[in-house]
Amino acid sequence: MSAPARQQDKQKEIAFFDGHAAADEYDVFTPDSSARIVDAFVRLTGLPGGARVADLGCGSGVFTELLSRAGYDCVGLDISPKLVALGRRKYPMVEFIEGDVEHLPFPSGSLDGVMLSGVVHHLPDPSRCAAEVARVLRPGGRFTAFDPNRMNPFMWLYRDRSSPFYSAVGVTENERPVLARDVAAVFERAGFRVSTHYLSGLAYRYVASSRARLLLPIYNFIDATIFGLRVMEPLRPFVLTAGEKP
Ligand SMILES: C[S@@+](CC[C@H](N)C(=O)[O-])C[C@H]1O[C@@H](n2cnc3c(N)ncnc32)[C@H](O)[C@@H]1O
Repeated sequence: MSAPARQQDKQKEIAFFDGHAAADEYDVFTPDSSARIVDAFVRLTGLPGGARVADLGCGSGVFTELLSRAGYDCVGLDISPKLVALGRRKYPMVEFIEGDVEHLPFPSGSLDGVMLSGVVHHLPDPSRCAAEVARVLRPGGRFTAFDPNRMNPFMWLYRDRSSPFYSAVGVTENERPVLARDVAAVFERAGFRVSTHYLSGLAYRYVASSRARLLLPIYNFIDATIFGLRVMEPLRPFVLTAGEKP
């Protein structure tokens, strides 16, 4: 198998996610799990209500809306025009814009916070995105990213190209689970002070592969029990990378 390209193929990414918008249903997690991700953003960034926050890779806007409800002055950004249109239809009170995390349409130093909403693992080389996040945040601004963890056995077996059980159903060729230390290193190089955290017990609502859908209750059960144990922390399914711009 050929090595993944170092540049994200934007057209393939847009075509893939525009296709999801057509189904009018693209909320990956259950409502409780989405709320836990947003709680983690609030806890790790410590940003007060009223802070200007961008939800990057917002998809159909489920996290953008939760961030708005948490009191932030929020804007959702996504590369898929159809998902952005869906977000605007679902949450008319929330601001959404089309855009690319590698070329952000925000002035330098204009944001207090950034949520990288399951998007870093869609970038074969996230350093351009990290530089853009560093540019648009003010000094003292914070970001949190969440991404699937390559150290988690399920994520590796199902979603890593090196696994014999890899399934390409429901993923773009740009994406793969991350190693926490790689993401941390990219954002440190962009100038951030970085810490790494992990999340388990996020129940999926949607998986594209019908085989995986059959196994979903087992995955959700094992994840909530085994990977909830403290000793299993680095193997939990999601990596949270948090950073502060000095
Ligand atoms: C895994 S989905 C996450 C969607 C949503 N945040 C959620 O968790 O339900 C990744 C999202 O990132 C968006 N995306 C991928 N590459 C992007 C880029 N270069 N710039 C902006 N958004 C991008 C996709 O269109 C997609 O909506």
